[in-house]
Amino acid sequence: MNKIAIDLPTPRVFKPLLYPSRYKAAHGGRGSGKSHFFAEAAVEHALMNPGSRGVCIREVQKDLSQSAKLLIEDKIQSMGVSEHFRCLHDRIETPGGGLIVFKGMQDYNADSIKSLEGFDWAWVEEAHTLTSRSLELLRPTIRKPGSELWFSWNPRSVEDPVDNFFRSSVLPPDAVVVQANYSDNPFFPDELESERKHDEAANPERYAHIWLGHYEPMAVGAIWRRQMFNDRYKDCPTLKRIVVAIDPAVSAEDGSNEHGIIVAGLGEDGRGYVLEDGTTKGGPTDWANRACVLFDKWAADAVVAERNQGGDMVKHTLRTVRPHLPVVEVHATRGKHVRAEPIASLYALGRVSHVGMFEKLETQMCQMTAAGYEGNGSPDRVDALVWGLTELFPDLTAHKAKPRAMPQVSRKWVV
Ligand SMILES: Nc1ncnc2c1ncn2[C@@H]1O[C@H](COP(=O)(O)OP(=O)(O)O)[C@@H](O)[C@H]1O
Ligand SMILES: [Mg+2]
Repeated sequence: MNKIAIDLPTPRVFKPLLYPSRYKAAHGGRGSGKSHFFAEAAVEHALMNPGSRGVCIREVQKDLSQSAKLLIEDKIQSMGVSEHFRCLHDRIETPGGGLIVFKGMQDYNADSIKSLEGFDWAWVEEAHTLTSRSLELLRPTIRKPGSELWFSWNPRSVEDPVDNFFRSSVLPPDAVVVQANYSDNPFFPDELESERKHDEAANPERYAHIWLGHYEPMAVGAIWRRQMFNDRYKDCPTLKRIVVAIDPAVSAEDGSNEHGIIVAGLGEDGRGYVLEDGTTKGGPTDWANRACVLFDKWAADAVVAERNQGGDMVKHTLRTVRPHLPVVEVHATRGKHVRAEPIASLYALGRVSHVGMFEKLETQMCQMTAAGYEGNGSPDRVDALVWGLTELFPDLTAHKAKPRAMPQVSRKWVV
Protein backbone atom coordinates (compact mmCIF):
# COMPACT_ATOMS: atom_id res chain seq x y z
CA MET A 1 0.00 0.00 0.00
CA ASN A 2 1.24 3.51 -0.79
CA LYS A 3 2.14 5.65 2.15
CA ILE A 4 -0.06 8.70 2.52
CA ALA A 5 1.63 11.89 3.65
CA ILE A 6 -0.69 14.60 4.87
CA ASP A 7 0.43 17.95 6.16
CA LEU A 8 -2.14 19.18 8.60
CA PRO A 9 -1.73 22.78 9.77
CA THR A 10 -2.86 22.70 13.39
CA PRO A 11 -3.36 25.52 15.89
CA ARG A 12 -0.58 25.23 18.46
CA VAL A 13 -3.04 25.39 21.34
CA PHE A 14 -4.12 21.82 20.56
CA LYS A 15 -0.62 20.36 20.54
CA PRO A 16 -0.92 18.75 24.01
CA LEU A 17 -3.87 16.75 22.66
CA LEU A 18 -1.80 15.05 20.01
CA TYR A 19 -0.21 12.51 22.36
CA PRO A 20 -2.14 9.43 23.40
CA SER A 21 -4.08 9.91 26.61
CA ARG A 22 -7.20 8.54 28.16
CA TYR A 23 -9.00 11.88 28.32
CA LYS A 24 -8.59 14.78 25.92
CA ALA A 25 -10.55 17.89 26.69
CA ALA A 26 -10.77 21.28 24.98
CA HIS A 27 -12.91 24.04 26.40
CA GLY A 28 -13.26 27.65 25.37
CA GLY A 29 -15.30 30.20 23.50
CA ARG A 30 -16.90 30.06 20.08
CA GLY A 31 -14.75 29.82 16.98
CA SER A 32 -11.61 28.53 18.64
CA GLY A 33 -11.28 25.58 16.28
CA LYS A 34 -12.27 22.89 18.78
CA SER A 35 -14.68 21.10 16.48
CA HIS A 36 -12.33 21.27 13.54
CA PHE A 37 -9.49 19.90 15.61
CA PHE A 38 -11.39 16.86 16.84
CA ALA A 39 -12.91 16.24 13.41
CA GLU A 40 -9.41 16.10 11.97
CA ALA A 41 -8.29 13.91 14.86
CA ALA A 42 -11.11 11.49 14.02
CA VAL A 43 -9.99 11.20 10.39
CA GLU A 44 -6.34 10.89 11.41
CA HIS A 45 -7.16 8.18 13.94
CA ALA A 46 -9.04 6.21 11.30
CA LEU A 47 -6.11 6.45 8.88
CA MET A 48 -3.49 5.49 11.45
CA ASN A 49 -5.48 2.69 13.04
CA PRO A 50 -7.23 0.64 10.36
CA GLY A 51 -10.27 -1.18 11.63
CA SER A 52 -10.75 1.19 14.58
CA ARG A 53 -14.16 2.40 15.65
CA GLY A 54 -15.17 5.84 16.86
CA VAL A 55 -18.38 7.48 17.99
CA CYS A 56 -19.35 11.16 17.92
CA ILE A 57 -21.72 11.85 20.74
CA ARG A 58 -24.04 14.61 21.81
CA GLU A 59 -26.36 14.63 24.76
CA VAL A 60 -29.37 15.03 22.49
CA GLN A 61 -29.19 14.35 18.78
CA LYS A 62 -32.51 14.69 17.10
CA ASP A 63 -31.08 14.05 13.67
CA LEU A 64 -27.75 13.63 11.99
CA SER A 65 -27.64 17.23 10.81
CA GLN A 66 -26.87 18.14 14.42
CA SER A 67 -23.90 15.82 14.49
CA ALA A 68 -20.28 16.26 13.47
CA LYS A 69 -20.84 14.02 10.45
CA LEU A 70 -20.77 16.75 7.82
CA LEU A 71 -17.68 18.32 9.34
CA ILE A 72 -15.84 15.00 9.34
CA GLU A 73 -16.90 14.37 5.73
CA ASP A 74 -15.55 17.80 4.79
CA LYS A 75 -12.28 16.95 6.49
CA ILE A 76 -12.04 13.66 4.62
CA GLN A 77 -12.42 15.67 1.42
CA SER A 78 -10.06 18.48 2.28
CA MET A 79 -7.41 16.06 3.49
CA GLY A 80 -7.65 14.34 0.12
CA VAL A 81 -8.34 10.88 1.49
CA SER A 82 -11.88 10.29 0.17
CA GLU A 83 -10.89 7.07 -1.59
CA HIS A 84 -10.22 5.44 1.79
CA PHE A 85 -13.61 6.26 3.30
CA ARG A 86 -17.22 5.58 2.48
CA CYS A 87 -19.74 8.10 3.76
CA LEU A 88 -23.08 6.40 4.25
CA HIS A 89 -26.34 7.84 5.45
CA ASP A 90 -25.75 7.41 9.17
CA ARG A 91 -22.13 6.39 9.47
CA ILE A 92 -18.75 6.60 7.84
CA GLU A 93 -16.86 3.47 6.88
CA THR A 94 -13.18 3.91 7.56
CA PRO A 95 -10.07 2.00 6.38
CA GLY A 96 -9.67 -1.65 7.38
CA GLY A 97 -13.35 -2.21 8.13
CA GLY A 98 -13.50 0.55 10.72
CA LEU A 99 -16.42 2.80 11.46
CA ILE A 100 -17.45 6.22 12.75
CA VAL A 101 -21.01 6.55 14.07
CA PHE A 102 -23.05 9.48 15.43
CA LYS A 103 -25.20 9.11 18.50
CA GLY A 104 -27.21 10.95 21.13
CA MET A 105 -26.74 9.85 24.75
CA GLN A 106 -30.47 10.16 25.26
CA ASP A 107 -30.92 7.15 23.01
CA TYR A 108 -28.97 4.90 25.32
CA ASN A 109 -29.76 3.11 28.53
CA ALA A 110 -27.45 1.09 30.74
CA ASP A 111 -27.97 -1.93 28.51
CA SER A 112 -27.88 -0.52 25.02
CA ILE A 113 -24.75 1.55 25.68
CA LYS A 114 -22.87 -1.75 25.74
CA SER A 115 -22.92 -1.66 21.93
CA LEU A 116 -20.14 0.93 22.22
CA GLU A 117 -17.88 -1.27 24.32
CA GLY A 118 -15.50 -2.19 21.52
CA PHE A 119 -14.99 1.41 20.43
CA ASP A 120 -11.58 3.04 20.31
CA TRP A 121 -12.64 6.63 20.84
CA ALA A 122 -15.66 8.70 21.70
CA TRP A 123 -15.89 12.44 21.06
CA VAL A 124 -18.50 14.35 23.02
CA GLU A 125 -19.35 17.60 21.25
CA GLU A 126 -21.07 20.45 23.10
CA ALA A 127 -20.16 18.53 26.22
CA HIS A 128 -21.44 21.28 28.53
CA THR A 129 -24.88 19.79 28.00
CA LEU A 130 -23.81 16.30 29.04
CA THR A 131 -25.69 15.07 32.09
CA SER A 132 -23.92 13.26 34.91
CA ARG A 133 -25.90 10.15 34.01
CA SER A 134 -24.46 10.26 30.50
CA LEU A 135 -20.93 10.87 31.71
CA GLU A 136 -21.21 7.97 34.10
CA LEU A 137 -22.59 5.68 31.40
CA LEU A 138 -19.91 6.61 28.94
CA ARG A 139 -16.73 6.40 30.99
CA PRO A 140 -16.81 2.69 31.81
CA THR A 141 -18.19 1.83 28.36
CA ILE A 142 -15.24 3.12 26.39
CA ARG A 143 -12.88 0.71 28.07
CA LYS A 144 -10.89 -1.00 25.34
CA PRO A 145 -7.15 -0.84 26.14
CA GLY A 146 -5.79 2.38 24.70
CA SER A 147 -9.23 3.82 24.06
CA GLU A 148 -9.73 7.57 24.37
CA LEU A 149 -12.51 9.94 25.43
CA TRP A 150 -12.55 13.39 23.83
CA PHE A 151 -14.63 16.32 25.00
CA SER A 152 -15.17 19.79 23.56
CA TRP A 153 -17.37 22.43 25.15
CA ASN A 154 -18.00 26.04 25.96
CA PRO A 155 -18.16 26.28 29.76
CA ARG A 156 -21.47 27.38 31.20
CA SER A 157 -21.29 26.66 34.89
CA VAL A 158 -18.95 25.03 37.39
CA GLU A 159 -21.84 22.74 38.14
CA ASP A 160 -21.96 21.23 34.66
CA PRO A 161 -20.73 17.64 35.00
CA VAL A 162 -18.07 17.95 32.31
CA ASP A 163 -16.66 21.07 33.92
CA ASN A 164 -16.66 19.51 37.31
CA PHE A 165 -14.91 16.45 35.90
CA PHE A 166 -12.12 18.28 34.11
CA ARG A 167 -11.74 21.58 35.89
CA SER A 168 -12.13 20.90 39.59
CA SER A 169 -9.09 20.39 41.79
CA VAL A 170 -8.93 16.62 41.27
CA LEU A 171 -8.25 15.78 37.65
CA PRO A 172 -9.06 12.30 36.34
CA PRO A 173 -5.94 10.24 35.64
CA ASP A 174 -4.25 10.65 32.27
CA ALA A 175 -6.26 13.69 31.25
CA VAL A 176 -5.05 16.53 29.03
CA VAL A 177 -7.15 19.66 29.25
CA VAL A 178 -6.60 22.72 27.08
CA GLN A 179 -8.37 26.02 26.85
CA ALA A 180 -8.78 27.51 23.39
CA ASN A 181 -10.25 30.79 22.26
CA TYR A 182 -10.80 32.50 18.94
CA SER A 183 -7.46 34.26 19.33
CA ASP A 184 -5.79 30.82 19.28
CA ASN A 185 -7.38 29.98 15.95
CA PRO A 186 -5.27 31.07 12.97
CA PHE A 187 -8.18 30.09 10.70
CA PHE A 188 -10.69 32.31 12.48
CA PRO A 189 -12.86 33.49 9.60
CA ASP A 190 -13.90 37.10 8.89
CA GLU A 191 -17.58 36.25 9.21
CA LEU A 192 -17.08 35.13 12.80
CA GLU A 193 -14.90 38.15 13.51
CA SER A 194 -17.75 40.50 12.65
CA GLU A 195 -20.12 38.42 14.78
CA ARG A 196 -17.66 38.67 17.62
CA LYS A 197 -17.29 42.44 17.30
CA HIS A 198 -21.03 42.82 17.24
CA ASP A 199 -21.46 40.81 20.44
CA GLU A 200 -18.69 42.72 22.12
CA ALA A 201 -20.52 45.97 21.50
CA ALA A 202 -24.14 44.87 21.73
CA ASN A 203 -24.05 42.06 24.23
CA PRO A 204 -21.27 42.78 26.73
CA GLU A 205 -22.81 40.70 29.54
CA ARG A 206 -22.67 37.55 27.54
CA TYR A 207 -19.62 38.31 25.42
CA ALA A 208 -17.12 36.78 27.82
CA HIS A 209 -19.11 33.58 27.95
CA ILE A 210 -19.75 33.22 24.24
CA TRP A 211 -16.34 34.23 22.94
CA LEU A 212 -13.87 33.89 25.78
CA GLY A 213 -15.15 30.69 27.32
CA HIS A 214 -15.98 32.22 30.69
CA TYR A 215 -18.82 30.80 32.69
CA GLU A 216 -22.23 32.13 31.87
CA PRO A 217 -23.15 35.16 33.94
CA MET A 218 -25.23 33.79 36.79
CA ALA A 219 -28.18 35.89 37.76
CA VAL A 220 -28.23 36.16 41.54
CA GLY A 221 -31.45 34.67 42.84
CA ALA A 222 -32.33 33.03 39.54
CA ILE A 223 -35.50 30.98 39.89
CA TRP A 224 -34.39 28.32 37.42
CA ARG A 225 -31.04 26.59 37.46
CA ARG A 226 -29.41 24.69 34.63
CA GLN A 227 -29.55 21.49 36.62
CA MET A 228 -33.35 21.60 36.51
CA PHE A 229 -33.18 20.76 32.80
CA ASN A 230 -31.07 17.69 33.28
CA ASP A 231 -33.93 15.28 33.07
CA ARG A 232 -34.22 15.59 29.32
CA TYR A 233 -36.34 13.42 27.08
CA LYS A 234 -35.82 12.52 23.48
CA ASP A 235 -39.43 11.58 22.90
CA CYS A 236 -42.37 12.46 25.03
CA PRO A 237 -44.77 9.97 26.57
CA THR A 238 -48.44 10.02 25.61
CA LEU A 239 -49.81 13.50 26.08
CA LYS A 240 -53.33 14.31 27.12
CA ARG A 241 -53.21 18.00 26.29
CA ILE A 242 -50.99 20.11 24.09
CA VAL A 243 -50.94 23.89 23.79
CA VAL A 244 -49.08 26.39 21.67
CA ALA A 245 -48.40 29.44 23.81
CA ILE A 246 -47.49 32.80 22.33
CA ASP A 247 -46.21 36.03 23.73
CA PRO A 248 -46.24 38.40 20.78
CA ALA A 249 -43.97 41.43 20.95
CA VAL A 250 -46.04 44.60 20.83
CA SER A 251 -44.04 46.83 18.58
CA ALA A 252 -42.69 44.71 15.81
CA GLU A 253 -42.72 47.30 13.03
CA ASP A 254 -39.07 46.83 12.34
CA GLY A 255 -39.48 43.09 12.59
CA SER A 256 -36.60 42.83 15.03
CA ASN A 257 -38.52 41.84 18.14
CA GLU A 258 -38.97 38.22 18.94
CA HIS A 259 -42.37 36.70 19.49
CA GLY A 260 -42.08 33.96 22.07
CA ILE A 261 -43.81 30.77 20.91
CA ILE A 262 -43.55 27.59 22.95
CA VAL A 263 -45.29 24.26 22.52
CA ALA A 264 -45.91 22.34 25.74
CA GLY A 265 -47.90 19.29 26.71
CA LEU A 266 -49.31 17.58 29.75
CA GLY A 267 -48.42 13.89 29.89
CA GLU A 268 -50.71 11.12 31.01
CA ASP A 269 -48.19 10.77 33.81
CA GLY A 270 -49.20 14.22 35.04
CA ARG A 271 -45.87 15.78 34.11
CA GLY A 272 -45.28 18.74 31.85
CA TYR A 273 -43.23 18.45 28.66
CA VAL A 274 -41.77 21.32 26.69
CA LEU A 275 -41.89 20.19 23.10
CA GLU A 276 -40.68 22.99 20.88
CA ASP A 277 -39.44 26.55 20.92
CA GLY A 278 -40.95 28.11 17.82
CA THR A 279 -40.05 31.70 18.68
CA THR A 280 -39.94 33.85 15.58
CA LYS A 281 -39.37 37.39 14.37
CA GLY A 282 -41.44 39.42 11.96
CA GLY A 283 -44.87 40.99 11.83
CA PRO A 284 -48.20 39.73 13.19
CA THR A 285 -48.87 37.47 10.23
CA ASP A 286 -45.55 35.78 10.81
CA TRP A 287 -46.18 34.81 14.41
CA ALA A 288 -49.80 33.93 13.74
CA ASN A 289 -48.77 31.67 10.88
CA ARG A 290 -46.06 30.06 12.96
CA ALA A 291 -48.55 29.41 15.75
CA CYS A 292 -50.94 27.72 13.30
CA VAL A 293 -48.19 25.63 11.77
CA LEU A 294 -47.17 24.41 15.22
CA PHE A 295 -50.79 23.87 16.21
CA ASP A 296 -51.13 21.48 13.26
CA LYS A 297 -47.74 19.89 13.60
CA TRP A 298 -48.36 18.89 17.21
CA ALA A 299 -52.10 18.31 16.79
CA ALA A 300 -52.50 20.77 19.65
CA ASP A 301 -55.67 21.46 21.59
CA ALA A 302 -55.44 25.22 21.82
CA VAL A 303 -53.37 28.30 21.26
CA VAL A 304 -52.78 30.26 24.44
CA ALA A 305 -52.17 33.96 23.97
CA GLU A 306 -51.87 36.95 26.21
CA ARG A 307 -54.39 39.65 25.52
CA ASN A 308 -52.98 42.28 27.82
CA GLN A 309 -51.23 44.68 25.54
CA GLY A 310 -52.68 43.85 22.20
CA GLY A 311 -56.32 43.85 23.37
CA ASP A 312 -58.33 41.88 20.83
CA MET A 313 -55.53 42.21 18.35
CA VAL A 314 -53.92 38.90 19.19
CA LYS A 315 -57.04 36.81 18.85
CA HIS A 316 -58.06 38.75 15.77
CA THR A 317 -54.70 38.17 14.11
CA LEU A 318 -54.85 34.46 14.84
CA ARG A 319 -58.42 34.20 13.58
CA THR A 320 -57.51 36.02 10.39
CA VAL A 321 -55.02 33.30 9.63
CA ARG A 322 -57.27 30.48 10.86
CA PRO A 323 -60.91 31.44 11.51
CA HIS A 324 -61.78 28.59 13.85
CA LEU A 325 -58.57 28.27 15.76
CA PRO A 326 -59.28 27.44 19.41
CA VAL A 327 -57.73 30.38 21.24
CA VAL A 328 -57.46 30.63 25.00
CA GLU A 329 -56.90 34.23 25.98
CA VAL A 330 -55.00 34.84 29.14
CA HIS A 331 -54.67 38.04 31.04
CA ALA A 332 -51.64 39.18 33.02
CA THR A 333 -52.57 40.58 36.37
CA ARG A 334 -49.17 40.08 37.94
CA GLY A 335 -45.60 40.75 36.90
CA LYS A 336 -43.67 38.37 34.70
CA HIS A 337 -41.44 36.94 37.39
CA VAL A 338 -44.34 36.52 39.81
CA ARG A 339 -46.16 34.48 37.18
CA ALA A 340 -43.01 32.53 36.51
CA GLU A 341 -42.38 31.43 40.08
CA PRO A 342 -45.03 28.70 40.39
CA ILE A 343 -43.78 27.29 37.09
CA ALA A 344 -40.20 27.33 38.32
CA SER A 345 -41.31 25.39 41.37
CA LEU A 346 -42.81 22.74 39.10
CA TYR A 347 -39.33 22.34 37.64
CA ALA A 348 -37.78 22.23 41.09
CA LEU A 349 -40.15 19.38 41.93
CA GLY A 350 -39.03 17.54 38.81
CA ARG A 351 -42.45 17.79 37.19
CA VAL A 352 -41.37 19.30 33.87
CA SER A 353 -38.94 17.95 31.30
CA HIS A 354 -37.64 19.38 28.09
CA VAL A 355 -37.98 17.13 25.08
CA GLY A 356 -34.76 18.10 23.38
CA MET A 357 -32.52 21.05 24.06
CA PHE A 358 -33.75 24.64 23.97
CA GLU A 359 -30.60 26.68 24.53
CA LYS A 360 -32.08 30.13 24.05
CA LEU A 361 -35.14 29.46 26.15
CA GLU A 362 -33.09 27.82 28.90
CA THR A 363 -30.66 30.73 28.95
CA GLN A 364 -33.54 33.18 29.36
CA MET A 365 -35.02 31.03 32.11
CA CYS A 366 -31.78 31.10 34.10
CA GLN A 367 -31.74 34.88 33.99
CA MET A 368 -35.18 35.22 35.50
CA THR A 369 -34.83 36.19 39.15
CA ALA A 370 -37.27 36.81 41.95
CA ALA A 371 -36.64 40.50 41.35
CA GLY A 372 -37.12 40.50 37.59
CA TYR A 373 -35.38 39.57 34.36
CA GLU A 374 -31.65 40.16 34.25
CA GLY A 375 -30.97 39.31 30.65
CA ASN A 376 -30.99 41.56 27.62
CA GLY A 377 -34.26 42.65 26.06
CA SER A 378 -37.40 40.93 27.12
CA PRO A 379 -37.83 37.28 28.11
CA ASP A 380 -40.39 36.46 25.43
CA ARG A 381 -39.61 32.77 25.35
CA VAL A 382 -40.02 32.45 29.12
CA ASP A 383 -43.27 34.37 29.00
CA ALA A 384 -44.69 32.04 26.40
CA LEU A 385 -43.49 29.04 28.38
CA VAL A 386 -45.10 30.34 31.55
CA TRP A 387 -48.43 30.94 29.80
CA GLY A 388 -48.35 27.49 28.28
CA LEU A 389 -47.52 25.62 31.47
CA THR A 390 -49.93 27.73 33.52
CA GLU A 391 -52.69 26.67 31.16
CA LEU A 392 -51.65 23.02 31.55
CA PHE A 393 -51.36 23.21 35.34
CA PRO A 394 -54.30 25.47 36.21
CA ASP A 395 -54.35 24.45 39.88
CA LEU A 396 -51.03 26.13 40.42
CA THR A 397 -52.20 29.65 40.17
CA ALA A 398 -54.34 31.53 42.64
CA HIS A 399 -56.65 32.70 39.89
CA LYS A 400 -57.87 29.49 38.49
CA ALA A 401 -58.75 29.45 34.86
CA LYS A 402 -62.39 30.41 34.49
CA PRO A 403 -64.42 27.36 33.65
CA ARG A 404 -65.45 27.72 30.07
CA ALA A 405 -69.07 26.82 29.45
CA MET A 406 -68.51 24.74 26.39
CA PRO A 407 -69.85 21.38 25.43
CA GLN A 408 -67.08 18.86 25.74
CA VAL A 409 -66.82 16.21 23.09
CA SER A 410 -64.15 13.83 24.09
CA ARG A 411 -62.46 11.75 21.48
CA LYS A 412 -60.50 8.61 21.75
CA TRP A 413 -57.67 8.55 19.28
CA VAL A 414 -57.45 5.47 17.17
CA VAL A 415 -54.54 4.69 14.95
N1 LIG B 1 -8.21 23.24 11.12
C1 LIG B 1 -8.95 24.16 10.50
N2 LIG B 1 -8.89 24.27 9.17
C2 LIG B 1 -9.62 25.19 8.53
N3 LIG B 1 -10.46 26.05 9.13
C3 LIG B 1 -10.57 26.00 10.46
C4 LIG B 1 -9.81 25.03 11.22
N4 LIG B 1 -10.12 25.20 12.51
C5 LIG B 1 -11.01 26.21 12.56
N5 LIG B 1 -11.29 26.69 11.34
C6 LIG B 1 -12.20 27.83 11.03
O1 LIG B 1 -12.58 28.42 12.28
C7 LIG B 1 -13.99 28.34 12.47
C8 LIG B 1 -14.26 27.99 13.92
O2 LIG B 1 -13.80 26.68 14.20
P1 LIG B 1 -14.67 25.64 15.00
O3 LIG B 1 -13.92 24.37 15.03
O4 LIG B 1 -16.06 25.57 14.49
O5 LIG B 1 -14.66 26.34 16.44
P2 LIG B 1 -15.37 25.90 17.81
O6 LIG B 1 -15.78 24.47 17.67
O7 LIG B 1 -14.31 26.11 18.81
O8 LIG B 1 -16.50 26.84 17.98
C9 LIG B 1 -14.49 27.30 11.49
O9 LIG B 1 -15.79 27.59 11.06
C10 LIG B 1 -13.48 27.41 10.36
O10 LIG B 1 -13.86 28.45 9.48
MG1 LIG C 1 -17.75 23.67 17.90
